[in-house]
Amino acid sequence: MESERLNKPDEPLGQRAGDGERFPMIAKTLAELEDVLAEELVALGAEDVEIGTRMVSFTGDKALMYKANLHCRTALRILKPIYNFKANGADEVYEAIKGLNWEEWLSLDTTFSIDSVVFSRIFTHSKFVTYRVKDAIADWFFERYGKRPSVSITNPDIALHVHIAHNRCSLSLDSSGESLHKRGYRVGQTEAPLNEVLAAGMILKSGWKGDTPFIDPMCGSGTLLIEAAMIGLGIPPGIHRQHFAFEKWADFDQELFSTIYNDDSGARELKYPIIGSDISHRAIAIAEKNIKNAGLKKYIELAVKPMQRYDKAPAPTGVIITNPPYGERMKVEELDSLYDMIGERLKHVFVGYRAYVLSYRKESFDAIGLRHSKRFFLYNGALECEMREYEIFAGKREERPKRSAPREKRVRENDQYKRNSREGYRRSQRARRGEEED
Ligand SMILES: C[S@@+](CC[C@H](N)C(=O)[O-])C[C@H]1O[C@@H](n2cnc3c(N)ncnc32)[C@H](O)[C@@H]1O
Repeated sequence: MESERLNKPDEPLGQRAGDGERFPMIAKTLAELEDVLAEELVALGAEDVEIGTRMVSFTGDKALMYKANLHCRTALRILKPIYNFKANGADEVYEAIKGLNWEEWLSLDTTFSIDSVVFSRIFTHSKFVTYRVKDAIADWFFERYGKRPSVSITNPDIALHVHIAHNRCSLSLDSSGESLHKRGYRVGQTEAPLNEVLAAGMILKSGWKGDTPFIDPMCGSGTLLIEAAMIGLGIPPGIHRQHFAFEKWADFDQELFSTIYNDDSGARELKYPIIGSDISHRAIAIAEKNIKNAGLKKYIELAVKPMQRYDKAPAPTGVIITNPPYGERMKVEELDSLYDMIGERLKHVFVGYRAYVLSYRKESFDAIGLRHSKRFFLYNGALECEMREYEIFAGKREERPKRSAPREKRVRENDQYKRNSREGYRRSQRARRGEEED
């Protein structure tokens, strides 16, 4: 077999870490949120923090693993690699996995699940990898006991994650279980709710931390409002979750987790209002339920109100972060006039504010008619979106954004083109070419 073991099967990578023992971990995230996630991890005390594609690797102890699950607003899951190896085919994966001492993690009574992600020409089907890993574990137990532990897809005791890039394979324990964007506060949703991790990432990228009023005038089910309130108040995003996968691990330290869970030293007062409105009665009713369920009713003001009816800003300065419709169900003219209205209201009502608009089509941003000061390339599901920042000064609104920025400004803006992810880099190069041609 050509596989190269990076550690001996009887020396797994610290799966039963004793108190204080440090081990490598991987936090997964959405493309382009890697930098904010890395900052969150550093703030929690992570070491050896390195940004990858849709992931950040780091080291820390068991306490940090619990904290990362509870506190990281932009992590989708926290993995604990237990075995790295090379394999040039599914049979070699089978052999490598079967060579481990599976009693370290599983028993005949524990259920397990396997999730595989494959970026490789050698392994084209992630499902096939999953089957071979499952076979290897089942055969390991069968050969010793004549029985095997059961697979449970929906509620496993131990969730395993296999990641293959070319011939490099990594087997991890998934310490989170259900994706961490499932915060546990959402009881209702409108047609296109933002992923909670994306909403938190947008707010963190804007730099807002609770130091000004916060407004979402197209709030839908209230995701940005709730994430903003939790950031402003210093409430951990995972506080409402019923369960983390590590709670079923044999080495689960209930006392340590309780101490971390009950530590409210990061709590802050919120001095400014968080305000949400939407044209739809139904959306506001749903937002109200979600906000109540998150225990944030007294911090968030809600109103049924079309954005065109804003004729006075609620405070002299503030931050607007919003995610208007992208237009899948609208005519192009309606969509353009909606974005034209957004630009017009920002310019006339919200002078002194910083506004962030997440959207999809270039024409929609053009219809806003304001010059952006920054652009962030983000992904909403599979859609290549942008969040543009507008600093709203008094003065005349431009018909369309000026593209020929002075050279000095261009050089400064080019710094932003060093993107986190490969997709982001490709898009930023395209955007730069577009700006230079204009
Ligand atoms: C993409 S959704 C926002 C989703 C929201 N971020 C969430 O997480 O649920 C866009 C929202 O804009 C609202 N909307 C559309 N036109 C509006 C207008 N003129 N004024 C205010 N809200 C509007 C829609 O009712 C919808 O709830």
